[in-house]
Amino acid sequence: MTDNSSNTMWGGRFAAGPDAIMEAINASIGFDKRMATQDIAGSRAHAAMLAAQGIITTKDAEAIREGLLTILSEIETGKFEFKTALEDIHMNVEARLKELIGEPAGRLHTARSRNDQVATDFRLWVRDQIDTVIAGLVALQKALLGQADAGADWVMPGFTHLQTAQPVTWGHHMLAYVEMLGRDVSRFRDARARMNECPLGTAALAGTSFPIDREATARSLGFDRPAANSLDAVADRDFALEFLSAASISAMHLSRLAEELVIWSSAQFRFVTLSDRFSTGSSIMPQKKNPDAAELIRAKIGRILGATVGLFTVMKGLPLTYSKDMQEDKEQVFDAADNFMLAIAAMEGMVRDMTANREALRAAAGSGFSTATDLADWLVRKLGLPFREAHHVTGVLVAKAEAQGCDLPELPLADMQAEHGGITDAVFEVLGVDNSVASRTSYGGTAPQQVRAQIARWKEILT
Ligand code: ARG
Repeated sequence: MTDNSSNTMWGGRFAAGPDAIMEAINASIGFDKRMATQDIAGSRAHAAMLAAQGIITTKDAEAIREGLLTILSEIETGKFEFKTALEDIHMNVEARLKELIGEPAGRLHTARSRNDQVATDFRLWVRDQIDTVIAGLVALQKALLGQADAGADWVMPGFTHLQTAQPVTWGHHMLAYVEMLGRDVSRFRDARARMNECPLGTAALAGTSFPIDREATARSLGFDRPAANSLDAVADRDFALEFLSAASISAMHLSRLAEELVIWSSAQFRFVTLSDRFSTGSSIMPQKKNPDAAELIRAKIGRILGATVGLFTVMKGLPLTYSKDMQEDKEQVFDAADNFMLAIAAMEGMVRDMTANREALRAAAGSGFSTATDLADWLVRKLGLPFREAHHVTGVLVAKAEAQGCDLPELPLADMQAEHGGITDAVFEVLGVDNSVASRTSYGGTAPQQVRAQIARWKEILT
């Protein structure tokens, strides 16, 4: 075989090798080597199927299998030499196989193409990530549940507009995130179920004339079934987009929790103390303990959502089937996955190690007229006032308390009665923060009994 090009994989029709810049823009090996394990698994499944179908000999299949295992161990031990001239992981592996076993290596690419190969490898890679992410999110849920369990009935202020609204319980607040992460997990599970179809054997785009067994390769790679349309199988990357979309939503949740930890750990709030293990110091201000991990988690959504928008933009408008544009699908997914996993792990550590300051939470819960709604509700229930009127009376009483520099429970009964004669000292029973939270017994409410029921439910789910 005469070969003037530098590429033994497709160089047959070429008289000259590529320009250095061509090689640089074309190569993906710098990043797709991360799919080496998946690439080798796909090739092993393919070779075994080819032999079982009598398309290649058992002897060749055995040589291929052994060669691939050698390559896998070379890669795992860092001995493999990745070559830019060989473009991508698929051709790097195949070229090395040729060096190792000679002629049978050339038979591996029967009835497949790099198009179905890359679609398969990338699906396997994303699928692995989904499994890792789900495990990480569940661990974080458990850490939050531990916090909820420890302080199921600890009162704290609940906020709207970051203004004190009504007292809630610490356990309730922690469980809010357990719910959010539960939906995140279910989004990843949905995405996994939808993506778990095998592209291998759809070949370049049209299928193949060889009598392959796509069920067999699908099964051996852990897919539920082979993808049913060869054009779709090589052309779509919606599975990666679903992964990124689910990651973006979840990273947004983590960002909100991170923001709360930043606020709560400040000297002004002191709701939580972060452990030294998850804090950093300042090089100039000796007193400082900074919540850097929380701040970084708060920011990670930027690059994760950026990757999502990036891949949507790459994919939009592409005609069927494969276009080289699609090689631009991987790097951002890798980066988003790495950073998302790091954010989950850091958040898990922070939540597990942090201490909620029960007294600071309680002190804040009682300030800011947080039981004003309880007072209004009492006026409705005991005195039969329409809620709008009760709201007005309560507003006047809040203004009086504010003028006197006290909170509602400290406002003298006489001042209350001056506003509405029917008010008795029974009103003080609803003005305490404990009474307030204990009264919110509606399903999903903040009453400790409701919170404990939800903790029990989540313990069951997460075991
Ligand atoms: N490196 C390529 C990618 O990541 C593999 C597929 C190449 N296929 C082709 N027909 N050039 O998309």
